[in-house]
Amino acid sequence: MTPIPFTRGVPPEQVLPVTELVKLTTEVLSERPVELFQYPRIGANLGDDALRAALAGRLGTTPERVFVGNGSLQVLDLLAAALLSGENKSVVVEEPTYDRARQIFERHGGQVTGVPLRSTGFAVDALADVVARVRPAFVYTIPDFQNPSGVCAGVEQRQALVDLAERHGFAIVEDTPYRALRYHGVELPSIADLAPERVITVGSLSKVLSPGLRVGYAVGTPELVAGIAVRAEGTYLTPTPLTQAVAARALEYGVVDSAIADAVAFLKPRHDSAVAAARAAFGDALLAEPGGGYFLSVLAESRLTEAELVAGAKAAGVTFAPGSAFFPGGRLPDGKLFLRLPFQALPESDFARGARALADVLVGR
Ligand SMILES: Cc1ncc(COP(=O)(O)O)c(C=O)c1O
Repeated sequence: MTPIPFTRGVPPEQVLPVTELVKLTTEVLSERPVELFQYPRIGANLGDDALRAALAGRLGTTPERVFVGNGSLQVLDLLAAALLSGENKSVVVEEPTYDRARQIFERHGGQVTGVPLRSTGFAVDALADVVARVRPAFVYTIPDFQNPSGVCAGVEQRQALVDLAERHGFAIVEDTPYRALRYHGVELPSIADLAPERVITVGSLSKVLSPGLRVGYAVGTPELVAGIAVRAEGTYLTPTPLTQAVAARALEYGVVDSAIADAVAFLKPRHDSAVAAARAAFGDALLAEPGGGYFLSVLAESRLTEAELVAGAKAAGVTFAPGSAFFPGGRLPDGKLFLRLPFQALPESDFARGARALADVLVGR
């Protein structure tokens, strides 16, 4: 039998608006073929003007504060290079955090310290202690339906982070790819809403339109985003004009909004059924009931090593990303194992079967 994959956060193909994207691609190409197949302008190119204007409108900011790159991970890499170019190499992250972000910070010389996540975000006391001790250049947070845990930070935690940033003078990088995918409850203020001048927002169209377009962005001060654009030019000369033009048109015509509505309608039942299945399989070890996004997660006491869990899961027909990768230095909390359970791409019965199998391996059944 093919294994049940609890491995990656890829959108299910049912939510990709491929027909509309083909139409928009044909439309922009027939209007501006030479421009879209030629080198774009160089000299701190922040990205397609119409796209930056559309993103600025959605995010309540102005275009000169928006930089668009080839996916948000690349934007994060350029941003980390800028933020870690000075003396201060200290970075604070949620624990667990997005593994690729942690690796980027480490690659740029960052000394990464984690603060444990609770079901409603950072443990505020621990965050206060850590930032007072390590004096970070910035704190990296994924406040909405976090990858890998699914945790959505509460308003109190968001405000506490902003208050600490004001007190200690650090920047906040908020990474928001899952923010629009909310299945329950009301939208919470973004961290940038609470402290626009302290926060750099990173965002992506990968989970709300198409990951293949590779469109991600950062919103910060005009000086910061211009600096990122200069670094970008030294790496890949200019952004990709065709996919940015398609993304701009998709925002203009409401295709992103309809793709979000379709994704929410498609994913809500998967989320609800996955929460019920994971609660039944793992009980209180389930870290959070997210209400949005792609991920559930489990932090559980176990007598197994991670290697034993991976091998046992494989024998039981389940593959998953080893949880230690999501922790600074690859170190799990003592005596615990962590499992990320993406639910977005799995039929409900597969998720339930996989969760039960993993739970059995975890307790040695
Ligand atoms: C938190 C987070 N940030 C960034 C990314 C990268 O997204 P992309 O490069 O497709 O915009 C992902 C992808 O899964 C993610 O989960």
